[in-house]
Amino acid sequence: MDAATAAERLAALMAERVDHRFKGLPPDAEGLTLAELTAERRNLFTGGFTTPVLALSAERLEHNLTLMETYAARHGLAFAPHGKTSMAPQLFQRQIEHGAWGITLAAPHQVRVARAFGVRRIFLANELVDAAALRWIAAEQAADPDFRFICYVDSVRGVELMDAALRGRGTSRPMEVVVELGAGEGARTGVRTEADARAVADAVAVAPTLRLVGVAGYEAQVPGASPERVRGWLGRLVGLAAEFDKAGRFAGADEIVVSAGGSEWFDAVADVFATIPELTLPALKLLRSGAYVSHDDVHYSRLTPFNRVPEEGALEPAFRLWAQVVSRPSPDQAFVNAGKRDAAYDLDHPVAHVVRRDGTERPATGIEVTALSDQHLWLHTAPEADVEVGDWIGLGLSHPCTSFDKWQLIPVAEADGTVVDYIRTFF
Ligand SMILES: Cc1ncc(COP(=O)(O)O)c(C=O)c1O
Repeated sequence: MDAATAAERLAALMAERVDHRFKGLPPDAEGLTLAELTAERRNLFTGGFTTPVLALSAERLEHNLTLMETYAARHGLAFAPHGKTSMAPQLFQRQIEHGAWGITLAAPHQVRVARAFGVRRIFLANELVDAAALRWIAAEQAADPDFRFICYVDSVRGVELMDAALRGRGTSRPMEVVVELGAGEGARTGVRTEADARAVADAVAVAPTLRLVGVAGYEAQVPGASPERVRGWLGRLVGLAAEFDKAGRFAGADEIVVSAGGSEWFDAVADVFATIPELTLPALKLLRSGAYVSHDDVHYSRLTPFNRVPEEGALEPAFRLWAQVVSRPSPDQAFVNAGKRDAAYDLDHPVAHVVRRDGTERPATGIEVTALSDQHLWLHTAPEADVEVGDWIGLGLSHPCTSFDKWQLIPVAEADGTVVDYIRTFF
């Protein structure tokens, strides 16, 4: 797909009409296109939006995009932000405009979404043994010389299945693969030992449809992850790249891909990747953080590497979920009209930040989220909590990935509440 078509597809998102499919959008905007609604610059609090509504902060989003762009550049890392976090082509585009090499994804349908919006470089951080998906990707590559696709391999059988699916398909070029090194015994995917990695690389070497271009893995899966253990595992990954290079296993590649890094350990990735020795080909040191884009108020706020290297900056939580108090049945209880359908709850409960009444906001002192039902948040209210039926509660969330996926259309609001954009997601 050429750049003009990709731009048209993105622009077409704004031609979509507002209706019942999109939670929280103003009922009186029914029938407007998103472009028309954006032009109205409605206010999130007074413009007819209904609760619950999830909003992204325009300023914070831009801050996070810029911070990771500069972080990656400062450390000599290429960046393929994990797209599964947002599944939002508009954000993919902004990440690419902010210097990203490409987009990381996890599943074939996610690749289809990215390709539908013209993403040219895709790193699939998973082994792909689905024959229909492999054939489709091969066809995409045949049709588009600019489309670069790299995926994991972690088993000899996987390599054989890939090769079988791609053979005779008239593939214009071999599919590029990287051996995934598992993060340790009992961890998630990836070969467990260097010997296993060699066996998988041997299998790739005799598969004409595949080309080995690097090594990769995911340090957040290191069992009992600590700075020492994560660095130890990253050291093994780098050692494997050097060993394979020395053994000539990357013959035919243009560059050697070494990839790791979510949003919890990119400081360690930057440090250890800086020690990659001179290889026979240029190294593409590929970082894959995804959660950074919205960041969050609990899990990632606690674990962000910027807590260890504050001199390099700080990400800012960009989500705020607005829900309304619909019941205050006892002095120590209140209920708002958002629940598991609206808020991430797999890692931590949401946290109440502010109470909004009659256009003024104050801190949500004494208000704690204690449980979630499908459509309710349970709030425990201490004696000092000033909260009434009708108040809007602004909540912070934990875990970006499971926040984005509950919303098909997310207003992007400036600090004063002016909505300046709408982000469409495709989960
Ligand atoms: C393989 C892989 N790479 C990168 C990431 C991105 O990590 P994060 O969500 O912490 O940004 C993930 C997240 O699950 C992952 O599974």
